[in-house]
Amino acid sequence: MNSKNDFPMKEKNIIYFDNAATTLKPYRVINKINEYYEDYSANSHRGDYDISFKVDDEIDYTRENVKMFINARRKEEIIFTKNTTDSLNTIVFGFFLNYLKEGDEIILSSSEHASNILPWMILSIKKNVKIVFVDSVNEKLHIKDLINKITNKTKVISLAQITNVSGDKRDIKTICEIAHKNNILVVVDAAQSAPHMKIDVQDLDADFLAFSAHKMCGPTGVGVLYGKYELLKKMIPFTYGGGMNLNYNERSLQLAEIPYRFEAGTPNIAGIIGFGEAIDFINEIGIENIERHEKYLRKYLIKELEKIPYVKIYNKDCEGSTVIINVEGVMSGDLGLYLNTNGICVRSGKHCAKMGDNKEDTVRISLYFYNTYEEIDYLIKALKDRKSIYEFAN
Ligand SMILES: Cc1ncc(COP(=O)(O)O)c(C=O)c1O
Repeated sequence: MNSKNDFPMKEKNIIYFDNAATTLKPYRVINKINEYYEDYSANSHRGDYDISFKVDDEIDYTRENVKMFINARRKEEIIFTKNTTDSLNTIVFGFFLNYLKEGDEIILSSSEHASNILPWMILSIKKNVKIVFVDSVNEKLHIKDLINKITNKTKVISLAQITNVSGDKRDIKTICEIAHKNNILVVVDAAQSAPHMKIDVQDLDADFLAFSAHKMCGPTGVGVLYGKYELLKKMIPFTYGGGMNLNYNERSLQLAEIPYRFEAGTPNIAGIIGFGEAIDFINEIGIENIERHEKYLRKYLIKELEKIPYVKIYNKDCEGSTVIINVEGVMSGDLGLYLNTNGICVRSGKHCAKMGDNKEDTVRISLYFYNTYEEIDYLIKALKDRKSIYEFAN
């Protein structure tokens, strides 16, 4: 998959393997954002003058694009937020704060990103509800362990479709089936899945789903909150102000339609417009092609890493696009900095998942479709230079 010429950052002298944190931005997304600032830089007013109409049309285009990208039933089910974290907080405090009753139970996995744990923790204190954690076995969540945690008090299960450290891919469709039979709602953190695989919210039957534009070639500062329309009708706005009301006086507030009631204030207009372009770009490459290419790249990376006896690989059997490793006798932070001296960007530490089953710090190599076999060879060469690694670390 040759997309080298599509990205300005690909022309710099670095190898970027930190795609689970954020992704590179193609020229066309950057140009689209510049075009907004240069040619029609207005606010979205829904009906005043031409360049403002253009802004409304572009935002609407992105909403429609996201709707099709995840196969939502209607575009009103797509709410623009700041990022996955903002979407999850809005779901937790806009919907579940009212929905849950004292004594109810929430199921999470201990491998979740902080953004899918901390809002629930605060909610559990506010509402006196209980969080029940499911642990992974060998980096994977097993559905039978999840089922064992379900009681008649369980009201919601919130899980990453693919985790950000191990890349554990969960069978969300089956989980939704089981949950719905037990009157349990399912929230899906799709931050690490939407960029890498086809998502069909109708097929999954997910109740809520969240992801970020910046992890899929889009700009920072834009996220998506998907919710089933019937549930969004019960959700209470989390932020109040302009754009989210139809009318108000001292005693009453008339909310705007869904989704606008959840998008108070001036949105990240340039970001949303750039995100629409990022989706077009991904669609042209084909999400299935992206998934396939990353699968081959990961397989190759693992095969080459296995040839280095002092490299420990933690998540061979997972399906996401991350590989987590350590080098015997070297702290992960030092290994990350050593690779940086070779122009290779990886992430070290706990990767915002402090309760994960793998409690060790690791180096995470996270791939995206624009990574190449040559880049992997270069990484492997740096890792094979044991003398330099140990000299650097000591
Ligand atoms: C699984 C998962 N959930 C949530 C987030 C939070 O995403 P954001 O920082 O874009 O809000 C991340 C970011 O790495 C993630 O990997």
